[in-house]
Amino acid sequence: MTEPAAETAVETAAAETAAVETAAAVAPAEPASRPLRERLLVAEGLHKRFLHEGSVVEVLKGVDLVIDEGEMVCVVGQSGAGKSTLLHLLGTLDLPSKGTITFADRDLTRMSSSELAAFRNEKIGFVFQFHHLLPEFDAIENVMMPGLVRGMNRGPLRERATALLEEVGLAHRFKHRPGELSGGEQQRVALARALVMEPAVVMADEPTGNLDSETSEAIHQLFFQLNATRRTTFLIVTHSRDLAARMPRVVSMKDGKVLTDERRPDAEFAAAAAPHTEPPAVDAPPVEPAAEEPEEALPAS
Ligand SMILES: Nc1ncnc2c1ncn2[C@@H]1O[C@H](COP(=O)(O)OP(=O)(O)OP(=O)(O)O)[C@@H](O)[C@H]1O
Ligand SMILES: [Mg+2]
Repeated sequence: MTEPAAETAVETAAAETAAVETAAAVAPAEPASRPLRERLLVAEGLHKRFLHEGSVVEVLKGVDLVIDEGEMVCVVGQSGAGKSTLLHLLGTLDLPSKGTITFADRDLTRMSSSELAAFRNEKIGFVFQFHHLLPEFDAIENVMMPGLVRGMNRGPLRERATALLEEVGLAHRFKHRPGELSGGEQQRVALARALVMEPAVVMADEPTGNLDSETSEAIHQLFFQLNATRRTTFLIVTHSRDLAARMPRVVSMKDGKVLTDERRPDAEFAAAAAPHTEPPAVDAPPVEPAAEEPEEALPAS
């Protein structure tokens, strides 16, 4: 496929696939020396109600949560507890019925939908159980996708995507399409895509829910490694006991409320992290928006 055709198709596909597939950012990376424990996300009194067949379903019943920069937080709880709903609210994919969410001191609940879309694209990377990769594009193109829909220059973007795919251990699979990759490999591509624009936080909803234990472990290792090397904040909804047991902070939910919020600074995660090198994005050239393609070309997500 020629590049212009690919770009057109990329934009069309991305417009159709919305926010979950296009977590993007144009913000520069946080300096590695930035101190931990600055507040990143503050949710206060979050309620979420859905109207379902004429009756109101109370899904979140007053959730308070503070997440600091660089934290690794997992959310656990029984099916139906409200975990995904909470993640959607914190990820600005849905609005609370009541309550406030501030992200880096900005009140998200007072922003317009277009401001929210831009904010989401800039700050948040999403990884879901079903990876939502675009089947007609290879691994590199899928990772480049958030930048392509922002109209960024292909050259530096490709270099960054290449570096990320190397970092997640897929240097030998650049040209493979999703159908030519294993489930774990696909999820690693999705993780690289979530990181390509260097978001402040990666939000993952059961990211290893459909993977075998060995592959899940490899993905979990990647989370810890990326947190250690990039200080990316991770908020991970999981049913994995293995992962929860190693996370430094575990929030449990029940019936739409936070039941427990346990911090374990001595959790195994640090020891479990694989040896790492410097993040390649530091060496990669900065990705600037292409002059000829205005940001208005972005699909609302
Ligand atoms: N759009 C909706 N309309 C009505 N009810 C909804 C809607 N979305 C979610 N719910 C209900 O809210 C509750 C919480 O859903 P949610 O998806 O947040 O659960 P969860 O904790 O992520 O569960 P799981 O572990 O199974 O993914 C469920 O009982 C669900 O049926
Ligand atoms: Mg869920």
